[in-house]
Amino acid sequence: MASQTGIDVRYAADLLRQGQLVAIPTETVYGLAANALDIIAVARIFAAKNRPHFDPLIIHGQSLHALAPYVQDVPEQAHMLANMVWPGPLTLLLPRTHRVPDLVTAGSDRVAVRVPDHPLTLALLAQLDFPLAAPSANPFGYISPTTAAHVAAQLGNKVGYILDGGAADVGVESTIVGWEDGQATVYRLGGLPLELLRDVLGTVDVRTSSSNPLAPGMLASHYAPRTPVKAANRETWLATPPTDGVGALVWRQPLPGIPLSKQRVLSVAGDDTEAAANLFAYLRELDALDLTEIWAEWAPETGLGRAINDRLRRAAVAR
Ligand code: TXA
Ligand code: MG
Repeated sequence: MASQTGIDVRYAADLLRQGQLVAIPTETVYGLAANALDIIAVARIFAAKNRPHFDPLIIHGQSLHALAPYVQDVPEQAHMLANMVWPGPLTLLLPRTHRVPDLVTAGSDRVAVRVPDHPLTLALLAQLDFPLAAPSANPFGYISPTTAAHVAAQLGNKVGYILDGGAADVGVESTIVGWEDGQATVYRLGGLPLELLRDVLGTVDVRTSSSNPLAPGMLASHYAPRTPVKAANRETWLATPPTDGVGALVWRQPLPGIPLSKQRVLSVAGDDTEAAANLFAYLRELDALDLTEIWAEWAPETGLGRAINDRLRRAAVAR
């Protein structure tokens, strides 16, 4: 059964009140949303995504105020960031209250919360008296969706409705920040640049790799297309003769020797914001071409280039 796609916020709210799943647009990627306080609804998210239960979910609210009942002992730095960035591509990992179901946090005493920046989803949240648990709306381990069509293609028969908010502006997932003994720590590089966090907070640790399965966004292999991905510097690719089935995801300009139809240029201008917005859609397009391999070129390791390289690194790990 093909699911309905549209901009009917009231219909989406009705389905969510009934415990159904609705795909929601955000500025980062599309989410697969359910009532975060209804464990049967939350369980449907895990089933639809084929997601392991040890992978905790982010809770989305309309404002810091709306999320207040679910978090406690909020550090001053977290308040500052929330006031500055929300709505925006930032997730805060904070001590939770007992109101948050264990299934949402995978049993952890911290919960991830964020206020997404999209007018349709903010209008939806305003109509609900509960927050929304929402992972990215893709099968577990695959590339996150940045359009309603991406969601329909992979989860269309598993959601009641897809709220179509157009192409995501940011294109990579939110930056996840938490505090360990008062020290701000980034657990996932994302749509909020690390440089900005360091400007505001001073010292910020980065801990984005882990063998601990409590945070699968940190798993070595994640965000991956079906076609094998290899990532390297441009000089390396220029020195490597391409074989027939190879395609490329490049930074500013195509590689010689590979048909242009098998290449995607992230940003001709070398703009990291534009490149991030294109990343997942281009990976999907290349994945649909039946290539033997996707050669990816590293982005400059600044701004959103860090999040782009993080996703490429995980996409490139053989599964
Ligand atoms: O931009 C985003 O954050 C998107 C949109 C839809 O909001 N959501 C998203 O959710 O990327 P998801 O489920 O694909 O990734 C959430 C990641 C988890 O895999 C985990 O690494 C981390 O957030 N996370 C969530 N709750 C956590 C918790 N209680 N403790 C540790 N890590 C947590
Ligand atoms: Mg995800």
